[in-house]
Amino acid sequence: MEEIWIERYRPKSFDEIYGQDAIVARMKAFVQRNNVPHLLLAGPAGVGKTSMVLVIVHALYGEQWRENFLELNASDDRGIDVVRTKIKDFAKTLAIGNVPFKIILLDECDSLTPEAQQALRRTMESYSSNCRFLLSCNYSSKIIDPIQSRCTIFRFKQLDKQALERLVERIVKQEGLKLKTGGFDALYLVAGGDARRAANILQSCAALDKSITPEAIFQLSGSAQPREVQEILQLAVGGSFIKSRNLLLDVMLKRGLSGLDMVKHFQREILGLPVAEEQKMKMIEGCGEIEFRMVEGSDEFIQLEALLARFYHGKEQGK
Ligand SMILES: Nc1ncnc2c1ncn2[C@@H]1O[C@H](COP(=O)(O)OP(=O)(O)O)[C@@H](O)[C@H]1O
Ligand SMILES: [Mg+2]
Repeated sequence: MEEIWIERYRPKSFDEIYGQDAIVARMKAFVQRNNVPHLLLAGPAGVGKTSMVLVIVHALYGEQWRENFLELNASDDRGIDVVRTKIKDFAKTLAIGNVPFKIILLDECDSLTPEAQQALRRTMESYSSNCRFLLSCNYSSKIIDPIQSRCTIFRFKQLDKQALERLVERIVKQEGLKLKTGGFDALYLVAGGDARRAANILQSCAALDKSITPEAIFQLSGSAQPREVQEILQLAVGGSFIKSRNLLLDVMLKRGLSGLDMVKHFQREILGLPVAEEQKMKMIEGCGEIEFRMVEGSDEFIQLEALLARFYHGKEQGK
């Protein structure tokens, strides 16, 4: 099987981590001083949190990184006790080489219950003399204060367009791909600033054809084309309810999208509709309400139909 691209293109040095410049600068300084504090790396998926830790580890330990580094998933199904036992076994021997501490990466710490986090905090205290704990999470607010206060917190951002472009260019060049007109914009639209998702989508597209069109990107990412969504909305606003509803059903089936996916697409595309501001507001409001009902479990398609009907209604009232 071919190697997955998120591994093939995992940053190997600080220079290959794009779009997190301020964080990179501080991490470099830690490494230069041979002194890394406990760290809490917070931020959304696919923005370089794990990669950053691996780069630090390689920069600090070089060849001996394996002996000095332990990677654990904090939410190991076997429980926090298993995690603690592994930490204990790893921490009882001293670091090898010039760096006076070992590094433990604990991924997904926000999935731990507060009780498990308390247990983790005690473990951190016991082994602070020869270990640094590097924790990753999506939301720092889900981490208990006693852990937060022991760590230096870094907030990772989603990659901006330029940063994502650097990664995409690297992949395109090395894999001999051709990204057709509008391809990068489509990729940025569907992946947002999630570099992992972007790399995965590129790989699935390339498996079919090395020449990558926006259409292929929307297709393989399970995402509707902005053009299709615009058409659904315009039909609804124009009062062509049945046509709008049929196209909606068509797009959902063809792209394998859920009702919630569609509402998100609507929210994004409403902003660009050629209608009055006031009407846009009403439409967005409608999306919010329907989204809530869907989450509460009402029938998705009925809710979507009601939403389309409201878009027309909203127009009449808006005038
Ligand atoms: N800032 C970034 N710069 C370059 N590539 C990135 C970046 N963030 C993520 N990636 C790509 O996505 C993959 C997964 O990143 P990872 O560090 O595991 O993300 P996280 O831990 O934040 O979910 C990397 O191997 C790399 O291909
Ligand atoms: Mg990670």
